[in-house]
Amino acid sequence: MSKQPTSRSNFGSKFGTVATAAGSAVGLGNIWKFPYEAGQNGGGAFLLIYILCVLLFGLPIMISEFAIGRRARANVAGAFRKLSGTRSWGIVGLLGVITAFLILGFYFVVAGWSLEYVYQAASNAFVGKTPTDLSQAFVNFSTDTFQPLFWTVIFICANAFVLLAGVEKGIERISKILMPFLVLILILLSIRAITMPNGSAGLQFFFAPDFSKITPNVILSALGQAFFSLSLGMGCMVTYGSYIRKDNNLTKTALHVISVDTLIAILAGVAIFPAVFSLGINPAQGPELVFITLPNVFTHMAGGYIWAILFFLLLAIAALTSTISLQEVITAYVSEEFKLQRKKVIVGSSVVLIIVSSLCSLSLGVGSKLTIGGMRLFDLFDFTSSKLFLPLGALLISIFIGWFYNPKKIRDEISNQGKLSTKLFPVYYFLMRYFVPIAIIAIFLNELGLFN
Ligand code: TRP
Repeated sequence: MSKQPTSRSNFGSKFGTVATAAGSAVGLGNIWKFPYEAGQNGGGAFLLIYILCVLLFGLPIMISEFAIGRRARANVAGAFRKLSGTRSWGIVGLLGVITAFLILGFYFVVAGWSLEYVYQAASNAFVGKTPTDLSQAFVNFSTDTFQPLFWTVIFICANAFVLLAGVEKGIERISKILMPFLVLILILLSIRAITMPNGSAGLQFFFAPDFSKITPNVILSALGQAFFSLSLGMGCMVTYGSYIRKDNNLTKTALHVISVDTLIAILAGVAIFPAVFSLGINPAQGPELVFITLPNVFTHMAGGYIWAILFFLLLAIAALTSTISLQEVITAYVSEEFKLQRKKVIVGSSVVLIIVSSLCSLSLGVGSKLTIGGMRLFDLFDFTSSKLFLPLGALLISIFIGWFYNPKKIRDEISNQGKLSTKLFPVYYFLMRYFVPIAIIAIFLNELGLFN
């Protein structure tokens, strides 16, 4: 079963802990998924609900996942079993592993797209193209049978390679350099986008909430996006929590991670929506939004050639630090639960993921006729992970903390055995015991049409 505490390596520094968790959180979710979800769900209205979800659900759940992981020092399933003292709570771990496969299935495809765009940027493929040309080029590429697969497989191999080489230290280092660069380049892009003709219409769309746009669907989308972007609801932060040092202030770490993650998502919105409105692109386009918008901005930027290469490269690296955290959930679970060598589990799961991602990629082109519930496989994986499995995982975590686990023990863990202030603990506990589970159940019931 789970290893002894001493055999699990710890994160080095405080900043290293934040950087690694932020490396998991910041990824395609911020730069690719957030803008297209916001575009499809009413812009400002979505942003407002999203921020509320981050604060009311994201923060307490992230603190909980860290605390559960650090207390148990085991993979997700092991952690829940250990702390609950019963086998049945291990189900949360299994659910997390299934969710990881679903997410990685489409995530690797989009990560592959970002590699293709590094290549296109480097071969100067954006220059002299109109917005229509650039959209068409993306459609041609993403519906092609082999080209996207090629990049996806390269990405999966790179991911496996990093995992095989050992996780913690490398990621800590990469993330520390990555974040500041990503913020810098997004700021430059934002400035360029805002100053494009009619760019202010995009800011209006993104920041001015139109309250009539707030529907139950927008709320579920924002909730799912908050979990997705913060890597919550499937035990990813439980697994990372198991590597956090005993003297780390978990609340502060969670606040830092959440701030960085939300800042980068908002910056991505500011970089994209003004350009979308300036170029007359439909903000509700869907998953292609970022890939058809930003190349246009680069063609209008001084030094655009270099910035474009750098941007898509950083996007790919940000995606990599996220996919590593996702596949680490699978690796830790399978190797500890079934006592298999990590190496074998990494290779085995990568092979399975090559097959799953290939199917997702093909579902956009040759396989687009094959739909389930009106959704292509790619969209189905995206939908079920964010809107079903992550909220379900979060619900189980809140029920565990709020109703099963001893409140004194969780307070001890969060306050480092009383060394930190416990003044805000009742607020945290109220959110976990009542607000989070009731709100998620209400959103689910509504989705099933029970309130109509
Ligand atoms: N949060 C990452 C992103 O925004 C994706 C991710 C990594 C994730 N680990 C996760 C999503 C765990 C859900 C659960 O790109």
